[in-house]
Amino acid sequence: MGRLAYRVRQFAGSLRGGLDDSQRAEIERLLTAEQKLLFAGMAPAYQRHSFVVYRKLLADGCDDLVVLQAGLLHDVGKGNVALPYRVAVVLLGGWWPHLLEILSAESVPGSWRHPFFVAARHAELGAVKLSEAGCGGRLVEIVRAHHGPVSVDHWCRRLQEIDAES
Ligand SMILES: [Fe+2]
Ligand SMILES: [Fe+2]
Repeated sequence: MGRLAYRVRQFAGSLRGGLDDSQRAEIERLLTAEQKLLFAGMAPAYQRHSFVVYRKLLADGCDDLVVLQAGLLHDVGKGNVALPYRVAVVLLGGWWPHLLEILSAESVPGSWRHPFFVAARHAELGAVKLSEAGCGGRLVEIVRAHHGPVSVDHWCRRLQEIDAES
């Protein structure tokens, strides 16, 4: 039941818009110029989700700047996938994960299946994007690992937990 509630919340979140001016001003102070460009390239719904994750980390007392930046950028690999795909990924992930696995095996850009590939591999794709933009190694590794095994670092683990419930 908890998983279903999570999927419904995620689905509702995928329909919502981006950030307001004060929220944008807040993240401007945290991100480097390169990171801001990458954040701006994310779909508004992903920006909003990332802001929620970052704010929850902050509310928890996180004072690790790189983890806070990771909160804002952990899903940067998802890019700006069109809304119907975002909805399909959430619904299939909850109710038909095997079909999602089949659809996400395709990797040819331009193919109708490519957005599923991007969604499934977004942690690695995000790490590559950050690395290519010259972002630091620790941020790259946190983003790469955010859907991986539970982190031994306290704040990285909190990021994984907060992300999973947001
Ligand atoms: Fe993610
Ligand atoms: Fe996320």
